[in-house]
Amino acid sequence: MCLTELIWYDLIFYRDCRSMKNQNEKGNPQSPIPWENILTSLEEGVVLLDQTGKVSFFNQAAEILTDLSASQALLKSYLHVFKRNPWLIDMVKKSRPPQQSSTRGEGDFVTQWGRQVLVNLTVSPLQDNHGRSLGSILLLHDLTRRKELEEDLKRSDLLATLGTLAVGLAHEIKNPLGGIKGAAQLLRRSLAQDSSLVEYADIMIREVNRVNLLIEQLLDLSRPAKLNLVPLNIHELLEDILLLERQPMEERKVGVRKYFDPSLPPIRGDRAQLTQVFLNLVKNALEAMDGQGCLTIITRIETDFHIREHGRERGKFIWVDIEDDGVGIKKENLSHIFSPFFTTKNNGTGLGLAICHRIIKEHGGLIRVESREGNGATFRVSLLVAD
Ligand SMILES: Nc1ncnc2c1ncn2[C@@H]1O[C@H](COP(=O)(O)OP(=O)(O)OP(=O)(O)O)[C@@H](O)[C@H]1O
Ligand SMILES: [Mg+2]
Repeated sequence: MCLTELIWYDLIFYRDCRSMKNQNEKGNPQSPIPWENILTSLEEGVVLLDQTGKVSFFNQAAEILTDLSASQALLKSYLHVFKRNPWLIDMVKKSRPPQQSSTRGEGDFVTQWGRQVLVNLTVSPLQDNHGRSLGSILLLHDLTRRKELEEDLKRSDLLATLGTLAVGLAHEIKNPLGGIKGAAQLLRRSLAQDSSLVEYADIMIREVNRVNLLIEQLLDLSRPAKLNLVPLNIHELLEDILLLERQPMEERKVGVRKYFDPSLPPIRGDRAQLTQVFLNLVKNALEAMDGQGCLTIITRIETDFHIREHGRERGKFIWVDIEDDGVGIKKENLSHIFSPFFTTKNNGTGLGLAICHRIIKEHGGLIRVESREGNGATFRVSLLVAD
C-alpha cells in the first residue's frame, strides 16, 4: 500500500472511527486513534493544502525536513512556504484544479536555513466523494538516509579490500622500517652535534615516523576498534582539543566561538577515539581557513527523532557541530570526502575523515557535512547519551 493510499485509508478509518466514537460514547469504551496522530507520527513529511492553497496540516517530519515550524507554515500559502523551491510549486500547481493529477518527482529541496535535502515528492489532489477538490496532499520523503546507506555500502567494500591490503603491507613494511629508523638513530648519535648531516638523519627519522603513522592509520581503519565505552562529558573533551590546538589557532589568527548547551547530559563514548574524531575535524577546519577565520563549536540535544536506522540502538542523541568559515567543499567532492585517500591537500593522506566516519559509526552515531562553497563547512556529529 503506498503512503497516499495509507493516508486515504487513515482518513476513511478516522471517519469510520468517528462514527464508531459517536456510538462508543453511547456505551462502548473503545476509543479511535485520531488521524492527526497517525500523520504526525509518519516518517514522511506530510503537508495538507486547502482549496485556497493554504497549509492546513504540517506534520513533525515536514518541520524537520523544511526547517520550518508548523506555526510558521500553517495558514500560509504554499507559494510563500515553498518560495525557495519553484520546482515543488510547479508540481503542486498540477495537482490543483483544473488538472488535478498526481505527480511524483525527485529534487533538491532548499530549506528555510538554506540546507539542500534530496527528497522524493508526491503531490496528490485531495477530493471528496463527489470528486470535488478539497486541496492537495504533499508527501516529502527525505532520501539523504538512503544515499548515505548506499555510500556506506560502497565504503564498506572498499574498506574490506583495504583491510586485506593494509595487513599485508604492515607485515612487509613495518620490519624494514624499524631497521631504517634504528640505523638513522644510531647514525644521528654518532654524528657530531654541529654536523650538517644531523639534519639529514632527522629527516630520515621523521619520514619513517610518518610512514609508520600512515600504516597505523590504515590498520585502524580496517580492523574493528575495541571501544572502551564510558560516560563522557563532551564539553571537557572539546575543551581539551581546543587546548591542544591553541597554538596552531593563534598562529593562523583563528578565533573560536563556543555555544555549549549547559544542560547536555554525558554521552557514551571512547575518550581516545572521540578525541581523534574531534581533533581531525578541528584540524580540517583550521586547514580550510587560510589566514583569519572563526571556528564555531555548537552542542545541543537532538530534537530530530527521525534519524534512527534499523538495528541502531534507540535512545537520546546529542549533536556537536564543528563549523568553519573557510573555503568550503565543492559540490562534486561532497560524496567522496569520507572515502579513504580522498584528499585535496598536497600533504594530506585523505584518511582523517574516513577514520572519523568509522569511529562514529562504531559509536552508533552519525556524521554529516553541510558545505557552503567558498563560505565554509559544518561537520555535524551525533552521539548517544549515556544511560
Ligand atoms: N572543514 C573543511 N573544509 C573544507 N574542506 C574540507 C574540510 N574538511 C575536510 N575537507 C575536505 O575533505 C578532504 C578529506 O579530508 P581528510 O581529513 O579525510 O583528509 P586530509 O585532511 O586531506 O588529510 P589528512 O587528514 O590525512 O591530513 C580534504 O582534503 C578536504 O578537501
Ligand atoms: Mg584531515
